Amino acid sequence: MAATAPSPHTVSLAEAKRFLQQAYAETDRKPSELQRRLSQVEAELESTGHYELTYEELSFGARVAWRNSVRCIGRLYWKSLHVFDMRAVVSAQEAFHALCDHLSFATNSGNIRSAITIFPEERHGEAPLRILNHQLIRYAGYKNADGSVTGDPDSVDFTHLCLQLGWKGAGTAFDILPLVVQEAGKCPVWMDWPESLVLQVPIEHPTEPSIGALGLQWYALPVISDMRLEIGGISFPAAPFNGWYMGTEIGARNLADRDRYNQLPAVAEALGLDTAHNDTLWKDRALLELNAAVLHSYKKHGVKIVDHHSAAEQHQHFERIECSHKREVKGEWSWLIPPMSPATTHIFHCPYDPREEKPNFFYGKGDHGDS
Ligand code: ARG
Repeated sequence: MAATAPSPHTVSLAEAKRFLQQAYAETDRKPSELQRRLSQVEAELESTGHYELTYEELSFGARVAWRNSVRCIGRLYWKSLHVFDMRAVVSAQEAFHALCDHLSFATNSGNIRSAITIFPEERHGEAPLRILNHQLIRYAGYKNADGSVTGDPDSVDFTHLCLQLGWKGAGTAFDILPLVVQEAGKCPVWMDWPESLVLQVPIEHPTEPSIGALGLQWYALPVISDMRLEIGGISFPAAPFNGWYMGTEIGARNLADRDRYNQLPAVAEALGLDTAHNDTLWKDRALLELNAAVLHSYKKHGVKIVDHHSAAEQHQHFERIECSHKREVKGEWSWLIPPMSPATTHIFHCPYDPREEKPNFFYGKGDHGDS
């Protein structure tokens, strides 16, 4: 009889092998240990179509997934990722509690720590648990009758879903959205974060009170929650992870983009700039002061943040370390360059190979893909 093709829902032996070989080599395990583990996994795959990672393999895999993230300028710190193994969690309630613990650990009163919480893996193509949020903490966006949006326009669809599920927001420009979790085969449920777990920073400028008067703010902790983590052929559809902010993500994108909070005209007006002509460079001046305000405010409130020049230097350090280990740093140039003054960083002047290696984080169905 001809060999049947492996089911698409069976974990690939080749992927498992490739990962285990890398993990055991990089962590200086004996070849005999690797051999023992490989035959164990092979037998498990043959009988069940699945295998389970040990905690060591899981945490190594999650860290390397960060190291392999071609869009991330903050990868120097990949080894310090805290890995919470929540593979035994099955209910939405338990997931909420685990994520409250994640927020509290990672926020750490402002001294942010990188962490990932890993929920059950896909089995035979089924995800036991899904998180529907793009980020655990994010602001709502309400579409008004005249087509304008109150809050974050990027959250309009998700906010609509939350409202349909029965959540109610206060209707301000900075309402924290709830967690929305779905157990396999059930309806999604929402849960509001305890206020005390969501650290936020009011934005003010060191010398221009008119910028503080705009009433802008942002949250401390960026936790991406809609990417799939893949390690050794195993898929983790719910594995939210966080780092800390780079100032420009907030000051040059979230608050500045025309299709986000679109604050450059308001900042320019607060600064008394002439906005009638492009060549006064009012947008650039407003952008600069808004970004100075973001960095100043996070620092003032004791919330860890990195400026884009330091982040680029850290990436350069990472590139050198990787080179010394004979690993080529892959990168997606258009994502790695900061959105302000990119040519002042070395990244702008370097070519990067964008091929993604595994383990890694991927966008699955319901692609967001622009964070
Ligand atoms: N760019 C996203 C945001 O502004 C966050 C992406 C992850 N950023 C990070 N520093 N880990 O919310």
